Amino acid sequence: MEASLKKQYPWWQSTTIYQIYPRSFMDMNGDGIGDIQGIISKLDYLKRTGFETIWLSPFFQSPQRDFGYDISDYYRIAPEYGTLADIEQLIEEVHKRQMYVIFDMVMNHTSDQHHWFKGSKGDKEGHKKDWYIWHEGKSEGKRPPNNWRSLLLSRGWQFDEQRKQWYYASFLPFQPDLNYHNPEVKEAMFKVVRHWLQKGVDGFRLDIFNVIIKDSSFSNNPFNINPFPSYSNPISGFQKGAYTVNHPDNFELAKELRGVVNEFQDRERVLLGEVFGKHDTIRKFLGEKQEGLHLIFLFDMLKFRFSAHWFRKKIELYEKYYPAPFIPTIVFSNHDNRRSISRIKNNPEKAKLIALFQFTTRAVPVTYQGEEIGMTNAHIPLKQGLDPLAHKFRWVPQWVANLAPVTLNRDICRTPMQWSADKHAGFTISEKPWLPVNPDYTKINVASQNDKFESLLYTYRRLLHVRKRFKALQVGSITTIKHTPKSVLGYYRLHEEELIYIYINFSSKSIKIKFPRLASRLEFSTRSDNLLSHQQVFLKPLSGVIIRS
Ligand code: GLC
Ligand code: CA
Repeated sequence: MEASLKKQYPWWQSTTIYQIYPRSFMDMNGDGIGDIQGIISKLDYLKRTGFETIWLSPFFQSPQRDFGYDISDYYRIAPEYGTLADIEQLIEEVHKRQMYVIFDMVMNHTSDQHHWFKGSKGDKEGHKKDWYIWHEGKSEGKRPPNNWRSLLLSRGWQFDEQRKQWYYASFLPFQPDLNYHNPEVKEAMFKVVRHWLQKGVDGFRLDIFNVIIKDSSFSNNPFNINPFPSYSNPISGFQKGAYTVNHPDNFELAKELRGVVNEFQDRERVLLGEVFGKHDTIRKFLGEKQEGLHLIFLFDMLKFRFSAHWFRKKIELYEKYYPAPFIPTIVFSNHDNRRSISRIKNNPEKAKLIALFQFTTRAVPVTYQGEEIGMTNAHIPLKQGLDPLAHKFRWVPQWVANLAPVTLNRDICRTPMQWSADKHAGFTISEKPWLPVNPDYTKINVASQNDKFESLLYTYRRLLHVRKRFKALQVGSITTIKHTPKSVLGYYRLHEEELIYIYINFSSKSIKIKFPRLASRLEFSTRSDNLLSHQQVFLKPLSGVIIRS
């Protein structure tokens, strides 16, 4: 086919994303807190590893009660992270390396220190009076207006002494929800979006996007038998989020926001939504004809089971709900959850297989900083957590917290990035990093893995580079192979003439597989002793391969 006739794929469909939690990535000025210059200093590392897009957790002005997810000014940079000039430099440095950068947009709520909220609570009649979700209480104002809960097992309504009314907060009380039924609010937020797009950012990760618009009837949420929050019903507390979660207006908001982003015609930008719910609900965020968000996170992998069967089922499920041209976005770890390597007893050999799956299945893969070197959860008792969730749940016995389906002390996955075996893992020269460095840094760090073929980091690098070589791995179709031994996951990716097979052996036994095609080439293997010969693949225990046919 003529090159010009070939279908063009937008960059965000084939990209790989690396999540940076700025506070813990790299500290350049020695105050113990990661900063923007620190990120710039590590761009070459990310480029060399092979990641194409970076997503930055929030660095805007904030009282930092939720470490940046409580923004008090969307146009300013928190001074501990740097200046506007630093951010401009970062955008430029990223683009210089042919990489992309996306910011975190927290549209649902602001900090209670934002001047919008201060104005809103101070004056029932003032200009900002309807900018947040205010309501009179029941029983002469003494009780909340209805039964709506927050996402955190507690009441969603907070009483404000100044205004003598209740306001709703989906997350923590100091994060009041904005009122998107008010067109001024929407416009103010779209203005923020345009501002950063003009500055050159390549898109946004959208914080809790699916709870932004609540029902204006203020009807009570219905009863639900399950007391615990889950990804399909995040509201929890014996309640179904019928009027507060995944409200149909949010799907419309997705389309409107897409419209704003489409105003920027110079190149395509991306919207990646943090949404949760059943697949047939959340896929509506993408629109019927791809006119909604470009991508949404699928969080099933956070709770993966290490088995061929489990992963095969997920591939099939995702192909059912997100067939091309849609594409799933998969994530095994992030700044809100226990690191997923703890599900496989911190075993780097198993982590290699997870990475092989993540970079070869039909999806946009998102890696959380440190995942590529096998960083583990830190042991920080709930009572000592700086995370506001840890504070809220400090009464919970530690053993219960350890077993809880949600991570109550998110500090454990937010400890500083482990760059080397130097003091404080090379993260800071300060005596006191904002969170303690995980003591395992002497063994688990970038420097020690950099040039070791058998390391996890090296495996990531090889995988990311194989992925770049084959269009089939980036945008090809995916088909699972039915007749493999039980503990082997097999699938192939196909794009035009290019056909790529992937086999992953989840068991601790060697397995021989008959390979259907002649003239094939082993393009990648997690171990150097896997073999391909005479239409047979010899898979060592816990290993996987990529074969071009
Ligand atoms: C999202 C963020 C989380 C934050 C919360 C409130 O879930 O990922 O870190 O605390 O929203 O903004
Ligand atoms: Ca710093």
